[in-house]
Amino acid sequence: MPSTYSRRDWLRLSLSSAAALKLADLTGNVLLWKSSLFSSPGFNKADFGTHFVWGTACAAYQVEGAKYGGKGKDVWDTFTHTPGKIKTGENGDVACDFYHRYAEDLELLRQMNFKAFRFSIAWARLLPKGTGEINREGIDFYHRVIDTCLSKGITPWITLFHWDLPQALEDKGGFTNREVVKWFSDYVDLCTKEYGDKVKNWMVLNEPLAVAGAGYMLGEFAPGRKGIKNFLPAVHHLTLCQAEGGRVIRRNVPQANIGTTFSCTYVDPVDDQPKNVRAARRVDAVMNRLFIEPALGMGYPVDDLPALRHLKKYFQPGDEEKMIFDFDFIGVQNYFRTVARKSLFPPFLWAKEIPANQRGVPVNEMNGEVSPEGFYKIIKQFAAYKGVKRIVITENGACFPDKLENGQVHDPQRTAYFEAYLGALLKAMQEGAKIDGYFVWSLTDNFEWNDGFRPRFGLIYVDYPTLNRYMKDSGKWFRDFLKQNH
Ligand code: FCB
Repeated sequence: MPSTYSRRDWLRLSLSSAAALKLADLTGNVLLWKSSLFSSPGFNKADFGTHFVWGTACAAYQVEGAKYGGKGKDVWDTFTHTPGKIKTGENGDVACDFYHRYAEDLELLRQMNFKAFRFSIAWARLLPKGTGEINREGIDFYHRVIDTCLSKGITPWITLFHWDLPQALEDKGGFTNREVVKWFSDYVDLCTKEYGDKVKNWMVLNEPLAVAGAGYMLGEFAPGRKGIKNFLPAVHHLTLCQAEGGRVIRRNVPQANIGTTFSCTYVDPVDDQPKNVRAARRVDAVMNRLFIEPALGMGYPVDDLPALRHLKKYFQPGDEEKMIFDFDFIGVQNYFRTVARKSLFPPFLWAKEIPANQRGVPVNEMNGEVSPEGFYKIIKQFAAYKGVKRIVITENGACFPDKLENGQVHDPQRTAYFEAYLGALLKAMQEGAKIDGYFVWSLTDNFEWNDGFRPRFGLIYVDYPTLNRYMKDSGKWFRDFLKQNH
């Protein structure tokens, strides 16, 4: 099959004839898609197979409400309460109040006919100081969430770490301190012993690159540290946590399905000049290969990004082995495609990304390129690793400006997005990629990290002043799509 598809091919492939894509405004930030809702796309649920898992994903800090239930402070509590760190000045103290409204949210999930729910455990909710004393209220909360899922025929999928390191541990150096591997494995031991007989699907880390890159190198995410001297130890210790966490789950949970998740983005060079091709390769090494290759026993991608040789400084004897874990699945998370070129800044990478709105391509509200083709290609890239047994799309979704009017949210762009992306996913599957499931980001709108509450990714609209929930048209589209019999 041809490796590149024209835009028209993608439209044909992924949109039904009834769903017409209209590029109403190429100059503005948002691509307007006009899709006739509830029309069936060019595929149906049965095409994905009877065992394919359909779910939605979320993360503790983004939805729960950090001030409830005796949770200890984590790095996101500190970060959001530091002036200037969050674009809107908001925080996750209340967020979507999932802590009290989880049953309502899981009922909406059930009504949309999803059968799986991915959520994360807030480390500081179980262990307010990160180690030591246990908060029983926190333990019981996740039991209630799990039990509610099970009572509704929804399978829980747990992420052990979605960015919210307890502040007490950050105060001891956080991911720059090698002790974090021990703190983390004790925490994973607690979680898996507590919930392991009810929960079989576990993910160790969520997007470690976001933690190391945005959290310890660029200072844009909690804990807000900067520089290569923080980045490199954070990378290595996250890699060790990733594998060690897997080993603890394997030991404690019989028949566990163990994965870890990565932020993935297909990287193209801006043109085929060798300097730009090499720059794109360096970006790919950081964005896509940095954490998976050591887990697979391939080491860090030093050949394509020589600066990574400095990671050696943080190695102890035996680390090459300790970085490896045989994951049952790899969680691929994709939101946009990346185009890169050589640049004199930043050092070490010598490459930069060209923002999507400067490239005349369709974008979401956060200026990420909407690219079903990029999604297809990144799946193929991950599926091509010999050591990757199965893939689960653990996050995919889009933020577009939503308006609540008379209890309705009409979001045709989001529906068209899902139709296009699912078409791309199906194509990769039909060509042999072993994909077990797809999780929409996200069930409800939520706190989008340093962007605050503005970008809305939910299938369910949250009206923040009242915290009332409303199913968007895209949620109804999933409800009808997933209702189809096999
Ligand atoms: C991913 C994060 C998730 C959410 C989406 C939009 O990178 O894992 O928490 O913020 O982006």
